[in-house]
Amino acid sequence: MRDPHRRSLTHVGGPVQTDGDEELARGLAEALDVSSSRDDEDAARAHVHGFHAYPARMHPWTASRLVQLVAERNAVVLDPFCGSGTVVAEAMIAGREAAGSDLNPIALELTTVKTRPRSDEELEDLVARAREIAANGDTRRKERAGATRRYPEDDVALFDPHVLLELDSIRSGIQQLPEADPAKTDLRIVLSALLVKVSKKSSDSGDAFTPNATKRLAAGYTLKLFVKKTEELAARLQEFTRLVPVDALLPRLATDDATKLRTVPGGRVDAIVTSPPYAATYDYLAHHALRSRWLDLRTEVFAERELGARRHYRALTSGEASDAWDAELDAFFRAAHRVLTPSGLMVLILADSAVQGKPLRVDDAVARVAARTGFIPLAKASQDRPHFHPPTEAAFRDRPRQEHALLLERG
Ligand SMILES: C[S@@+](CC[C@H](N)C(=O)[O-])C[C@H]1O[C@@H](n2cnc3c(N)ncnc32)[C@H](O)[C@@H]1O
Repeated sequence: MRDPHRRSLTHVGGPVQTDGDEELARGLAEALDVSSSRDDEDAARAHVHGFHAYPARMHPWTASRLVQLVAERNAVVLDPFCGSGTVVAEAMIAGREAAGSDLNPIALELTTVKTRPRSDEELEDLVARAREIAANGDTRRKERAGATRRYPEDDVALFDPHVLLELDSIRSGIQQLPEADPAKTDLRIVLSALLVKVSKKSSDSGDAFTPNATKRLAAGYTLKLFVKKTEELAARLQEFTRLVPVDALLPRLATDDATKLRTVPGGRVDAIVTSPPYAATYDYLAHHALRSRWLDLRTEVFAERELGARRHYRALTSGEASDAWDAELDAFFRAAHRVLTPSGLMVLILADSAVQGKPLRVDDAVARVAARTGFIPLAKASQDRPHFHPPTEAAFRDRPRQEHALLLERG
């Protein structure tokens, strides 16, 4: 750090330790410090943010505060791990030129849908399309028409037969819309948002489904929910559109590997605001397997190159995992270095993880990798995050697990 200066500030979500440039660190601390109060939870679900579940979403307040801390108005802000599009949406609202990429195809579709401002007419058309598809599905249901395709065993186990048939009507109705129809991608995301809700899965967070969960859904319920969710999306998009400055550019979105950033020209990004995957913590491929299957998404490249994926770390010792994580961060930092302007800023939200009972302190990893990839650490803020995962609890017995906001400058 340029100005090493450790202190501890008291914040609503608990003390925040800061380090480095005092003013910047204070800004990071404020961005990181989102409590679990009712207000904060409401904000987390405000307008487009609350439409679709996504693991480890950034809190919109954190995204908004970070964008304002590191980027001037009209500056180019990139989130290369955009996930559900939180940073992209907040950068647009704050009047920045937003760009986002992710290697997970569902993330790209979701971000695309959530961050395109719409006219009221377009939103009315969207709801009308959903009603037509649902009405057609209802007719098929009453006529006892069969499915339009064969479904794998996984789907047969996951949905009640009548639910599967209604989903099939929705899926084939969306598929029949012309590619050029702007409602098509929106309705795919509506379908994605309701898949878990009508399945026998107990929640969106588990990778595996719970076979005993008893959800008894009435005939026609899934079709009605499809229309209701579309109306909800339309209302959320209308709210978002009103928050975005009228002269805002559409965000530049692409499917891209953050360790390559091939779609981003060199030296043009003023600031990167992002939350990379946490090492060995999530498995986004498995998490989205059901959605990817229903939306016919190609996930081969993501399967191979997902960063931090739990499945890739399972067989590693803690030492090997630490080296593997440094190498993954290293590749991302080099790509980030190439796309940033000469003194561009990068702010990362990351949490510590545990591998084979040992902590993987991500702020230390970032400091190591920054030193060898040409980044200068400017400031950091860290807040304790209780860890209730029994197999890895021991790793954080001596020093709690923390979430960090880390600000670096391109050297
Ligand atoms: C912590 S999540 C980001 C969540 C996001 N900030 C939000 O609010 O929704 C990390 C993201 O990294 C993506 N990812 C994993 N490996 C990647 C890679 N090699 N290139 C680009 N994105 C990747 C995952 O698909 C996931 O969306």
